[in-house]
Amino acid sequence: MQSTKTDVAIIGAGPSGLMLAHILNQAGISCTVLERKSPDYVLSRIRAGVLEQCTLQIMENLSLDSRLKAEGLPHDGVILADGERVIDIDVKGLTGSQVVVYGQTEITKDLMDAADGRGFTRIYEADNVQLFNIETEAPFVTYEKGGETRRIDCRFIAGCDGFHGPARKAMPNSDTNYVEKVYPFGWLGVLADVPPATHEVAYANHHNGFALSSMRSLTRSRYYIQVGLEEKVEDWSDERFWDELELRLGADIAAKVTRGQSIEKSIAPLRSFIFGSMRHGSLFLAGDAAHIVPPTGAKGLNLASSDITYLSEALIDYFKHRKSDGINNYSDKALNRVWKSSRFSWYLTTLMHRFHDGGEFNRKMQVAELNYIAGSKAAQTTIAENYIGLPL
Ligand code: APR
Ligand code: PHB
Repeated sequence: MQSTKTDVAIIGAGPSGLMLAHILNQAGISCTVLERKSPDYVLSRIRAGVLEQCTLQIMENLSLDSRLKAEGLPHDGVILADGERVIDIDVKGLTGSQVVVYGQTEITKDLMDAADGRGFTRIYEADNVQLFNIETEAPFVTYEKGGETRRIDCRFIAGCDGFHGPARKAMPNSDTNYVEKVYPFGWLGVLADVPPATHEVAYANHHNGFALSSMRSLTRSRYYIQVGLEEKVEDWSDERFWDELELRLGADIAAKVTRGQSIEKSIAPLRSFIFGSMRHGSLFLAGDAAHIVPPTGAKGLNLASSDITYLSEALIDYFKHRKSDGINNYSDKALNRVWKSSRFSWYLTTLMHRFHDGGEFNRKMQVAELNYIAGSKAAQTTIAENYIGLPL
């Protein structure tokens, strides 16, 4: 069997895996990235588009932020709409900070485009990746490529292989050691090459359900509406979608919606999943391999970024300074932030969606909470500081 050696074997070439590979490579630590799919497939996934400071910081430290700086849209605020009421939260004024709207797929593209010039190995279309000896200090992975089985020996394995990958499944008790919440609805999302209705991202709670106005650029809009889990994308013509979106966003925002042909339309269920531990022996989990957040608040990629910041610091300390504190604390530190972000996504989901089994009391609580937010700087500051991302 062909066999190679590296310091860190990274499974998955999504944003988590590529960010980690770039940072380790910059620090002089060798790594190999194994990805099951082709580069084109990885780039075809449509993801959310709001970047927190921790993501921006990684791209800046890697000197990969030139396109992000040129094309990203810095946002000073966020909007909560409830019927005809529109609450503008001045995120920059309240926190001194901003988020940047830039497709997460574009982040993956920037990381991919720069990878060849930077000297770490990426292997795409690697089949049947398997992990071995993770309890020891000499783990290894095997994979199949071109009809051959190959082996990579390493000191650590980083499981950056998303929710369905093999890394989490290699952890002890992987089928019981997690906490999950499934929401009783999904989001129907549409991407269209039309100018966005709002400059800021707007979350709306309407009698018919939640709606979201977002964007990828000044000429490309991203909209979502809450739908039942039984809904089928084929039943949503563009016209039906635009009618429902405008109704839910309220008259003020609806007046600024430009309709156009959808270039992508899909339904995604909402759920929260948090695995109990992000390390076992020589295996670390990061990003979607360890946790899923509902899209409300757009925390998915930003949590991957905070995981990778903690993990890369820990690995650099280990390889460069022979210190193990970072690797020993990684799981607790990362999970602490994951839970706080999951709390915010849960809060915003609960506040802005219609729950058919929620009853009159829950709806009254939503209205009372929105009344409170509308009149309280403290409440708006709480939302703003969570929206821009809690400190690392
Ligand atoms: N072998 C190798 N690679 C695998 C395997 C496997 N068996 N299974 C999955 N992968 C790859 C997937 O093909 C994917 O490219 O792992 C990668 C995981 O990438 P993501 O699912 O994007 O997860 P992650 O990198 O953690 O991204 C975190 O970024 O784009 C956002 O919202 C997204 O929340 C997500 C966040
Ligand atoms: C998006 O632009 O896709 C988006 C924005 C905000 C969210 C979720 C998704 O909360």
